[in-house]
Amino acid sequence: MEILDYDIAVLGSGIGGLSAAIHASNESKGQLSIALVSKLHVMRSHSVAAEGGISGVLYPDVNKDSEKLHAYDTVKGSDYLADQDAVDVLVKGAPKEIRFFNNIGVPWNRREKGMISQRPFGGMSVPRTAFAADKTGFFMMRALYDELLGHGNIDVFHEHFATSIITAKDGAHGFVTFDMANGEIKAFRAKAVILATGGFSRIYALTTNSYSNTGDGTAMAVRAGAALKDMEFVQFHPTALVPSGILITEAARGEGGYLTNARGKRFMQDYAKSKMELAPRDIVSRAIITEIEAGRGFRDPESGMGYVHLDLRHLDRDRIDERLPMIKEITIKTLNLDPSEEPIPIRPAAHFTMGGVHTDINGRVMTASGKHFGRLWAAGECSCVSVHGANRLGSNSLSQCSVWGRITGAQAAAFVASAGSRHEGFESGAEDEEARISSFVDGKGNISPYEVRDEMHRIMGEHMYVFRTVAGMRKAEHELIALRKKAERMHVMDKGSTYNTNLRDAFETVNLLELALVTTSCALKRTESRGAHVVREHPKRDDKNWLKHTLASRSQRGTITLSYVPVAMGRFAPEERKY
Ligand code: FUM
Repeated sequence: MEILDYDIAVLGSGIGGLSAAIHASNESKGQLSIALVSKLHVMRSHSVAAEGGISGVLYPDVNKDSEKLHAYDTVKGSDYLADQDAVDVLVKGAPKEIRFFNNIGVPWNRREKGMISQRPFGGMSVPRTAFAADKTGFFMMRALYDELLGHGNIDVFHEHFATSIITAKDGAHGFVTFDMANGEIKAFRAKAVILATGGFSRIYALTTNSYSNTGDGTAMAVRAGAALKDMEFVQFHPTALVPSGILITEAARGEGGYLTNARGKRFMQDYAKSKMELAPRDIVSRAIITEIEAGRGFRDPESGMGYVHLDLRHLDRDRIDERLPMIKEITIKTLNLDPSEEPIPIRPAAHFTMGGVHTDINGRVMTASGKHFGRLWAAGECSCVSVHGANRLGSNSLSQCSVWGRITGAQAAAFVASAGSRHEGFESGAEDEEARISSFVDGKGNISPYEVRDEMHRIMGEHMYVFRTVAGMRKAEHELIALRKKAERMHVMDKGSTYNTNLRDAFETVNLLELALVTTSCALKRTESRGAHVVREHPKRDDKNWLKHTLASRSQRGTITLSYVPVAMGRFAPEERKY
């Protein structure tokens, strides 16, 4: 096994990971050696799929906007579970990030005098979402990757799948990977590690996420002893295409699209009169499911899925071509449907995981006992720095990835400047991991990873979707525990070393299953409804008992322990969430 030494190793190559690597490099004036390691080719990272835009206050006078208003919208949108000190960091940092992306070449849509256009998004009081048509993530990634390639001190490792973080008493010292191209096992040893591995919405079958969003970093972190935070909160994006789940951007509603039921009614007037289609996602998703359950939706004959309509027919064709070209391309290619001629069939699908690796306000990973994990940072969707609370507002995630990519990169670089380079026990830890990978390949089990994944998807879809019940969550937890036991007999059929996607899929399945179980266990304990977590038996928010974050940790034997920490409150006191 090859051991590669770096000052900083960044795992994950979306906007969080690339930003972290670039800003660590900038902070050190190009002096630190940095590895950027990804299980994909960098430009296939899920950030390229971000469509609608990035939030930030750019023109307070022109748009009648302020950082305070952005913070208020975010905190209210979060159903008051966001940490308000972290939200302040988000709203202060976001405009700087948009300007940074402007400087590195993102082709923003523009308005008069070269100003960057901003469109309305759900739960935002004013138009605050900067965008590049409906391919914002792709353009941000392209600019970032190009910028990164100009840093000679950053080595990029595409298609290296990480299996475990290697730790010592003082924290993380690197991780072990296998190279998808040839199966070679490599250990990355570093003075500081930054996780930026994305979310885990693939615990659901119906999702807007890429196949790659399997929460590998999140699962590795909890196995290594870090805490996970607020895992019960999974965002269901209201407008996923039926039946595929492909994202139809919220920008379609931001540009004026309507949601209508089978009677042709704009039903959001019954759920959020003042914001209508631009209410926050948790509210719109619940409204759609309520309409379908009440028999006011449509049914897709092939998949059996219920759905409602997203109607863009009244929008100007040129506006669609200029601002929503990809949506048009997607509906034409997949359904032979021109959105100027016919309404689009949509329903909610898993989109974003508000929970993730527990960090402090600087992205430093924490344990459940309130200590820093040591040498480990997390940025982007894999982390929970608590800016989204129980429900994220659309377009706040690209801001979060950029703001905390910068912060964690700079923090790790500053740490490394004074960190020692002793890595006691690293080699033996990495060798143990190499043996574990081999035993996975050589294992004698008879259970297919795909069978396990299908079963997990059934459980999560049936019991852990937009509306949850106590009995359903209990059943889900019970079934997932049994499935995890069964998965110990998982069998890797492919014994080859060239692009062994079967081996990768098996590791991913183990990660997903772990996170599905943590999500369910956290949800079962929270006996209230808040943001994206809605329990039919407990329909109200309960601030007296539940204005707190859930922490989950895991013993070596897999037992999950939950504990709670207070929310960092600030200038916005909880109020009824009306839109
Ligand atoms: O609908 C969208 O374009 C998604 C944006 C987001 O999740 O922030």
